[in-house]
Amino acid sequence: MTEHRILRTAILLGMVLCASRVNAQKVELSLDASTAGAKIDRNIFGQFAEHLGHGIYEGIWVGPDAAIPNTRGIRNDVVTALKALKVPNVRWPGGCFADEYHWRNGIGQQRAVTLNPNWGGVIEPNTFGTREFMDFIEQIGAEAYISVNMGSGSPREAAEWLEYMTAAQPTTLAKERAANGHPAPYKIGYLGIGNESWDCGGNMTPDYYLSQLKIYSRFVRNFSPAQLDKQQMLKIAVGPGGGEPRWTEWTQAIMKAWQQHTWSWDINGLSLHSYTVGKWPPAFTSVGFGEDEYAEILKSTVEMDELIAKHSAIMDQYDPQKKVALVVDEWGAWYARLPGTNPGFLVQENSLRDAILAALNLNIFARHADRVRMANIAQMINVLQAMIITDKEKMVLTPTYYVFKMYVPFQDATFVPVAFNAGTYRRDGITVPRVDAIAAKDTNGKLWLEITNVDPGQAVEFEATLTGFRAKSAAGETLTAPKVDSVNTFKEPDTVAPKPVSVEIEGSKLKLHLAPKSITVISVQ
Ligand code: AHR
Repeated sequence: MTEHRILRTAILLGMVLCASRVNAQKVELSLDASTAGAKIDRNIFGQFAEHLGHGIYEGIWVGPDAAIPNTRGIRNDVVTALKALKVPNVRWPGGCFADEYHWRNGIGQQRAVTLNPNWGGVIEPNTFGTREFMDFIEQIGAEAYISVNMGSGSPREAAEWLEYMTAAQPTTLAKERAANGHPAPYKIGYLGIGNESWDCGGNMTPDYYLSQLKIYSRFVRNFSPAQLDKQQMLKIAVGPGGGEPRWTEWTQAIMKAWQQHTWSWDINGLSLHSYTVGKWPPAFTSVGFGEDEYAEILKSTVEMDELIAKHSAIMDQYDPQKKVALVVDEWGAWYARLPGTNPGFLVQENSLRDAILAALNLNIFARHADRVRMANIAQMINVLQAMIITDKEKMVLTPTYYVFKMYVPFQDATFVPVAFNAGTYRRDGITVPRVDAIAAKDTNGKLWLEITNVDPGQAVEFEATLTGFRAKSAAGETLTAPKVDSVNTFKEPDTVAPKPVSVEIEGSKLKLHLAPKSITVISVQ
């Protein structure tokens, strides 16, 4: 570029920036940092990894002999990336796959080769089994959330799996675990009792499911000495998959039974599955879309709030003390599969829209933190709304990955209510709140604010008035991109990556400029 062209480009850029500031909407927010809400449980940042497509095989597991750098068969690049997210828990082995998974196929030297009829009918080599999963979560520093097979398994099979994993005494199963390389009992943080038992998990009625639930809850025991008193394994029952009467009746039935439960069984959580699809079967494209589809998908995603409120209200009738958590253990965007991919592999792109969608959902969970104490985005790698996409030795971090990274400080922080009115963003009769925001205080006393500017056309001049907190310094990061459907690719991995943002402090006010279609996290101390 000549000097003249550089100057002209700089002037043009300056003009665009000034124009965006002139057009910017002013949004004022206020908060009182001394008002404490519920703890935002770190488990709402959980992940879901199913034996589906390239989620496990290639995404996590390449085998110890692979040319791709690995530790005992688990990809090093993926582990390094996930460690930065401080992933609290990983749900495994499914999903629908869990109800056809027989754990004995995935232990020992000789693994049975089976099929994966749910997801493309492909060969399941079972080379990634109990030991490999537990190794993986240990490498990334997460807890295990195991979904046991209620559909085609039995209480005995599930009970034996738990004994195999957790018994410390020299039972035959514990000795088998030791012979397979792990003498010490594993710690299993969470137990999922069935998966979508109203549908792919066996199309059960609430009554039939309840009769099974009581048996599994009673007999599938965790024997780990470390978990007998403290850190007990939490049991999660199958919950609703939507807001229609079929689902509200399901929640009623389980919660009513729980209210009357005897000493012999119990649950600590009720799951909720809700994907942002727009329409079923998934037809929205994950890339190459315009503002109409952007608005439609975001409108559909914020319905999560109403869905949670609806089921929480039912739970409140039977459990006003909120002992049973609502566990949103499958959520995220589900779009049309990418052309040329196996229909059973659920392969889609991940764009800036997905980053905004993730932020809006995480904020909804945070606002319901008293009841929503766990959530698992679907799915961790290469499937649906993934954190990471791999292709053989290559790996790229998605816009959704960066949102999870920016939100790390919110893990276990205390929710601080905020008040603001930013109006709505409208597109073709669709309205979505223009701005969303949450705040929280971490254990070191730092204040954290997240602000999402949903509007793809207008920037926001944002001003926050703080009471109960003296701001001395503030810093932050923002995630945006040129287009609503911008993605990161192997060749251009940083198109959607966080950049520093400057924050001004004026007395009790914080001021910052929010770019259109952006996610910003700032810390104040
Ligand atoms: O995440 C993909 C599938 O969606 C899961 O296997 C199932 O539980 C849900 O229907």
